[in-house]
Amino acid sequence: MIMTILLIIAAYLFGSISSAVLVCKAFGLPDPRREGSGNPGATNVLRLGGKVPAGLTLAFDWVKGTLPVLVALWLLDGDWGIGFVGVAAFLGHLFPVFFGFHGGKGVATGLGVLLGWSPVSLLLTGATWLLVAGVFRYSSMAALVAFVLAPIWLALVTGSVAFTTCMFVVTVFSWWRHRGNLKRLAAGEEPKIGQRKA
Ligand code: G3P
Repeated sequence: MIMTILLIIAAYLFGSISSAVLVCKAFGLPDPRREGSGNPGATNVLRLGGKVPAGLTLAFDWVKGTLPVLVALWLLDGDWGIGFVGVAAFLGHLFPVFFGFHGGKGVATGLGVLLGWSPVSLLLTGATWLLVAGVFRYSSMAALVAFVLAPIWLALVTGSVAFTTCMFVVTVFSWWRHRGNLKRLAAGEEPKIGQRKA
């Protein structure tokens, strides 16, 4: 029990490191919380600074999800504890204690968590993201569709109630964080991938 609580706290703190803000600072780019969509995530860093800083942001945000789950898989027994550690890392990204609780939408970190829980489910979710992004060119739409399907893939692939429930929580939070994107998509004002303005 103590180990589970310690890992949940550590995962939250690790998830609270805002890759987008740090990468933008390192590359002399504007603060992604204030420019572009205002979202500290890889999509917005791509808008502000191009592929290299965006790729680094994506990679760091992804590791923030995968690493805590891998440690939990190693040290904990039982899916619920491992599931809560993943959710904690994800929530750290959304509400980072080190960055005024102004975090991102959790797509890369959520996918990173999913990789730890079930690589096959991640492959199916990633394929969904790529398909929607390839056809429609909207990063947000791809994430929204992929995250709706993710709990279903997890349930089918793992049969784990804990992982499926935890992924559902991730999906709900991520959809809530995308509410501005949803409005822009409905209004036809959402910028396409790499586009600076609609
Ligand atoms: O990964 C976040 C993406 O789904 C939307 O980002 O910057 O277009 O709001 P953004």
